[in-house]
Amino acid sequence: MGNVAMNHPDTAPATQGRAAKMFRDIFDSGRPLTFVRSSEEQRVGRILREAGHNLFDNGAAPLWSWSLTEGMRRDGGKVEPEASNAREALDFIDAHKGPAIFHLKDFHEPLRASAEVRRRLRDLYQTCLDRRKFVVISSPVRFVPEEIERDVAFVELRPPDLRELIDFVHDEAKQIAATGTSVDSSQATVYQLARALQGLTLDEARHAMRRAMAAHKRLGTESIPALLEEKRLLIGRSGVVDFVATETDIGQVGGLENLKSWLMERKRLFELRDTLSEDIVPKGVLMMGIPGCGKSLSVKAVAAHFGLPLYRIDMIEIFSGRHGQPAATFVQTCKMLEEMAPAVVWFDEIEMGITSADASGEQGRIFAFFLTWMQEKARGLFVAATANRIDLLPAEMIRKGRFDEVFFVDLPLGNERVDIFRIHLRRRGVDPAKFDLSELVEFTKDWTGAEIEQCVISALTKARLKERELTREDLVSVAMGVVPLARTMKEQINHIRQWAFDRAMRASLRPVGR
Ligand SMILES: Nc1ncnc2c1ncn2[C@@H]1O[C@H](COP(=O)(O)OP(=O)(O)OP(=O)(O)O)[C@@H](O)[C@H]1O
Ligand SMILES: [Mg+2]
Repeated sequence: MGNVAMNHPDTAPATQGRAAKMFRDIFDSGRPLTFVRSSEEQRVGRILREAGHNLFDNGAAPLWSWSLTEGMRRDGGKVEPEASNAREALDFIDAHKGPAIFHLKDFHEPLRASAEVRRRLRDLYQTCLDRRKFVVISSPVRFVPEEIERDVAFVELRPPDLRELIDFVHDEAKQIAATGTSVDSSQATVYQLARALQGLTLDEARHAMRRAMAAHKRLGTESIPALLEEKRLLIGRSGVVDFVATETDIGQVGGLENLKSWLMERKRLFELRDTLSEDIVPKGVLMMGIPGCGKSLSVKAVAAHFGLPLYRIDMIEIFSGRHGQPAATFVQTCKMLEEMAPAVVWFDEIEMGITSADASGEQGRIFAFFLTWMQEKARGLFVAATANRIDLLPAEMIRKGRFDEVFFVDLPLGNERVDIFRIHLRRRGVDPAKFDLSELVEFTKDWTGAEIEQCVISALTKARLKERELTREDLVSVAMGVVPLARTMKEQINHIRQWAFDRAMRASLRPVGR
């Protein structure tokens, strides 16, 4: 902390976005020089304006900005003719009377090019210190010369959080409305739009909004699917991360009561993450088990239940080599995900990328990185990993501390199968109360959830073709014809079960003795 007194910490807007708050903390600590790495200049300007709100006794801090092409100007004011080049800009700051924030855009170039500018900036540190003059350099590349490294606070601008997006959508909506376009700018709608844009930069968010507008000629809740689609495309550009739009609520998952109640508890803890000690904050869950029994479904339900966007990492894509060295791609991807917090991150078929084979090579490095990352990653990321070939996963992966819990998803029990039938009938508009589903328990021994869904679909198709309602007989006759996967893969399934027996928690509530 510097020796500048904290100014009005209580009068800053209570709901500052995290980026504004970060700058506010730097200003409050009295550090005069900050370097922010970001390509979003406009956004940095916005954030500085917000951070400067009530910073000084007489209200908002005056905000000046400088760029090589536009020179120095006060926010919304005229250009200062005397401060057009970099050196003059620094002189201007030096001579400026009274507190202010100075935003220097793309200043890495003059810093790189001129020893004089570097020297002058160093002097500024002294003259700004304790005078409430704050210099903020923004640039898309990190360039902090060695001689001033110690004097400069370096920050990376993370993508906007919900708070900042809400303000942004609000402002955009106002601008759009001014052009005569119909806009629903109610608080609830703005909130929902901002939620849909989470994970994007402001430039990308603006782009997504414009595209959505082009489709609908109106801004409102009906724009949300288009926004999500834009987001999917923007995120998908990286090739290894997909944004998964999901509406699956936890009620769509049949059975798995242990897993579900565990997740409900985690939700509460996750929401309190900023106030909890490190070891209680939920980090993630690993689900393994028999194919088709609801692992992927549960991941989608987690994201929806937590109210967070879901990002799926394609391990096979990372290992394809199409995106460069797999280890480097993996590390980069994990870092990028942190920028997108809060979110649920889904490593699907994690055993395809992180295995115990080749421990000293590329895979070994990825695995080591993953273990550390799981412990140190941003609090706002909840990892959901799914695996089928668990025997390929290294033992350390299962050990507690990396994941909060490891669940084994087995074939559904009798009552769970009934539950799953009910869910899939209802999903297709059939009232399950019309059937005595318990009699299907007999016919569906060793079935997976996916097979139950398939049975419902086939039976319904049959009935529809005959242009009549679904009957009990349709369900039973289809059921009798099914040879469940588990029966043909008996050995493999027994192997998975044995392996999981003392290494994982059962996802189902199992009656004693089974
Ligand atoms: N417990 C369940 N409740 C409701 N539906 C289920 C359940 N399990 C499976 N299903 C149905 O089967 C489909 C396939 O399940 P899901 O994709 O979740 O399986 P998985 O365990 O991820 O399998 P895989 O290992 O092949 O990826 C789901 O989309 C869902 O419709
Ligand atoms: Mg799956």
